[in-house]
Amino acid sequence: MADKTANAMWGGRFAFGPDAVMEAINASIGFDQRLAAQDIAGSRAHAAMLAAVGILSDRDAEAIREGLLAVMSEIEGGTFRFSTALEDIHMNVESRLGELIGEPAKRLHTARSRNDQVAVDFRLWVRDQCDAAEGALVALQRALLGQAERGADWVMPGFTHLQSAQPVTWGHHMMAYVEMLGRDRGRFADARRRMNESPLGAAALAGTSFPIDRERTARELGFDRPMANSLDAVSDRDFALEFLSAASLCAMHLSRLAEELVIWSTAQFRFVRLSDRFSTGSSIMPQKRNPDAAELVRAKTGRVFGASVALLTIMKGLPLAYSKDMQEDKEQVFDAADSLMLALAATTGMMEDLQPDPERMRAAAGAGFATATDLADWLVRAKGMPFREAHHVTGALVALAETKGVDLSDLSLGEMREVHDGITDDVFAVLGVDNSVRSRTSFGGTAPERVREQVARWREMLG
Ligand code: ARG
Repeated sequence: MADKTANAMWGGRFAFGPDAVMEAINASIGFDQRLAAQDIAGSRAHAAMLAAVGILSDRDAEAIREGLLAVMSEIEGGTFRFSTALEDIHMNVESRLGELIGEPAKRLHTARSRNDQVAVDFRLWVRDQCDAAEGALVALQRALLGQAERGADWVMPGFTHLQSAQPVTWGHHMMAYVEMLGRDRGRFADARRRMNESPLGAAALAGTSFPIDRERTARELGFDRPMANSLDAVSDRDFALEFLSAASLCAMHLSRLAEELVIWSTAQFRFVRLSDRFSTGSSIMPQKRNPDAAELVRAKTGRVFGASVALLTIMKGLPLAYSKDMQEDKEQVFDAADSLMLALAATTGMMEDLQPDPERMRAAAGAGFATATDLADWLVRAKGMPFREAHHVTGALVALAETKGVDLSDLSLGEMREVHDGITDDVFAVLGVDNSVRSRTSFGGTAPERVREQVARWREMLG
């Protein structure tokens, strides 16, 4: 160990010398211990293959197999002692294996390098995360379907520019998120399919002179095939980036929903009430219920986006094949995956518990002349008026209602006819928020019957 006072730069700020600094910057065991199960699975597959092709004796392979199982149970049981001096999970496992079984442990690393080893471990880990995200997304879709089904015909304001635009149904709004999450699932599934090739056997970068069987290890680990180029196999982190991209889009969707929950739960809106489980009281303002979980779902998005930018930045300047820079991939992906899974769980909980207030939503839906477009459309449909003119007439009717301080449907037929004498009393059938949403029956529209069809379609798809 170098004299810690020898380098003025480290002086009092770092109470350790250059060797310790090197160990600290170089070691990844503090975080890559999360890859223990994958590392051991990869080593087991590798050892079994080495024996099958005659590179290892069956005895040695058996000793390695049992030793690895013992190491795994030590790790699971929390008795394993991780050492920073041993740098990473690969060396920690191998070193402990040596202590347990002796000489055969030294043969495990034949025809392998930590470069292909870490690529396998991390791919397996990210693959599991794709599956976990898929499962969590289905759970959230189910919660949203439950909301949509209950409120297929609850009317609420639909917004553009966050200004009341046209009435929509609660069910329709919920189903918009079901669609988004469906695309998210597709992205995770797609990324998973592409990443499901095995880097094992690429060795350090060039392949190996040993007669290994890469098909066999690929199959054993559930990969579709071995990766076709060894340089690519050890230098590729696209799989992690694709995961982060899918996670970013998904987190963005969750953040938008969270933002709506924050808005809808304000005293001004009161469209929904979040359950006690997902909100907190203020320590000094007794009237308050804060949507903390929704706010944190919204905020976690930053970490996921950040991870994506960080890893893209790490990778962008790297020559082929492996560089130690790539060790920085893991914390980003771990943090993004944890954040996403937590956000999904919190959102599912919030949506399961959420108590919408159909009366409040309905009252708000009628405010602000939200059915003006229906009136204009009616003038076109029933009276053959050009849309531009209908828009103008409707504008005049809205102005009239506004000066009288009433809603469009409260104007009398006489008052309307003063604005335009072609108006007849069947106009009242299109005014009012229920008529408005019921009339929007075009495919994908907000009409309750359309919403129910979509709910049924998704229920069928989710099984
Ligand atoms: N801990 C390293 C990582 O995460 C493992 C690979 C190390 N390879 C090497 N040649 N030093 O990337």
